[in-house]
Amino acid sequence: MAYFSVKLVSREGFEPSTPSLRGSCSNQLSYRPAHLVYHTKVSAFWQGLDWRVVVYNTSMDIVWFILGAIVIIAVFLFLLAAFTGAPYVPSTVAELEKAFENLYPLSKKDLLIDLGSGDGVVLRVATKYGAKAIGVEINPLLAWLSRMRLRKNTNIRIICKNFFKYNFPPETSVVYAFGDSRDIDKIAALVAKQAQKIGHPIYFISNAFKLSNRHYLKQHRAYYLYKIGGNNED
Ligand SMILES: C[S@@+](CC[C@H](N)C(=O)[O-])C[C@H]1O[C@@H](n2cnc3c(N)ncnc32)[C@H](O)[C@@H]1O
Repeated sequence: MAYFSVKLVSREGFEPSTPSLRGSCSNQLSYRPAHLVYHTKVSAFWQGLDWRVVVYNTSMDIVWFILGAIVIIAVFLFLLAAFTGAPYVPSTVAELEKAFENLYPLSKKDLLIDLGSGDGVVLRVATKYGAKAIGVEINPLLAWLSRMRLRKNTNIRIICKNFFKYNFPPETSVVYAFGDSRDIDKIAALVAKQAQKIGHPIYFISNAFKLSNRHYLKQHRAYYLYKIGGNNED
């Protein structure tokens, strides 16, 4: 589809705001790569003046405008997420599979929450083992993309929200986070608060960062397993 904008310009450089185009037009069409120019003479009030009706082909302008706007919004959303918590760096499927197998073998009894779910890779891996999975992602673009990618998987739900404001469902058994050093203890405190609320301990897997105030149960490479809440906390 092509879009055009029309502009009247007189030879003297005066641009009428509401030009009347009544009258006969003696059209000589000259074509330029970027736009079409109609030379026209209009009658009545404007008679005697020689007007050019410039028809700009703005199709490409609109396309560039939309692309530019998308890029600016995407950069803004990624920066916003990076300031709020960890920046977007996805985990790899093979590493995740090994980590779950070594640290916490998932089953269909589990509900895993990925705090900051990015492109949804952790959710996808968790459901391979039959678990249900919820992703909480602050970046609307990533939340939307992962929803689109994983829409056929009925065991996955993705919520676009700041995870610090998210209330875990009572059946939550495992929480995964690939956070950052600044926030990892705050994330563990959130898990502890939610575990207390739902009344049972939650297994917490932290990718890349150890908690400063708790001992992990197991380690696999850079993944650490904790049990948070309940009587046997450690
Ligand atoms: C390092 S990435 C991890 C992505 C995914 N969990 C994985 O392991 O592949 C961290 C993600 O957390 C998201 N995030 C950061 N702070 C957040 C917050 N407060 N609430 C929800 N999501 C957040 C970022 O947008 C980013 O997608």
